[in-house]
Amino acid sequence: MTRPTFAVLNGPNLNLLGIREPDLYGAEGLSDIQQRCEKVAAELDADVEFFQSNDEGALVDEIQARRDNAGIVLNAGAYTHTSVAIRDALAAVQVPFVEVHISNVFAREDFRHRSYLSDIAAGVIVGCGVDGYELALRRLASLIS
Ligand code: DQA
Repeated sequence: MTRPTFAVLNGPNLNLLGIREPDLYGAEGLSDIQQRCEKVAAELDADVEFFQSNDEGALVDEIQARRDNAGIVLNAGAYTHTSVAIRDALAAVQVPFVEVHISNVFAREDFRHRSYLSDIAAGVIVGCGVDGYELALRRLASLIS
């Protein structure tokens, strides 16, 4: 099998991880998460590419550009609860994706209980902190093995 490439995509405000509401999201920043993912990817004999944007259209463009990737780990942040456009992009590219939320969205406000993505996801990881990204990569690797 050729070496798979996984994309790890992060949506709005996740560039502020480490500073933003640390009681909910922890002390690690996005660069720490990237390092963790690179370590797991090396273990899985895979490549990992990172992207973060606060912009919905930029995330749609990035998902479209990932149509040949082996899998996507996606924390769409608040767009999870609002974005038909991101859902449609994921449905269009047909790349298996795992939806990740650092916090337990089901223990939070009602509007966070609804996801436009979960029913078309290969898996959903919620409330496992930033470990969720690593778990998602491992799941994607086992899905394609
Ligand atoms: C989040 C949960 C979302 O409800 C929120 O808007 C985020 C982060 C999480 O990782 O827990 O930005 O996706």
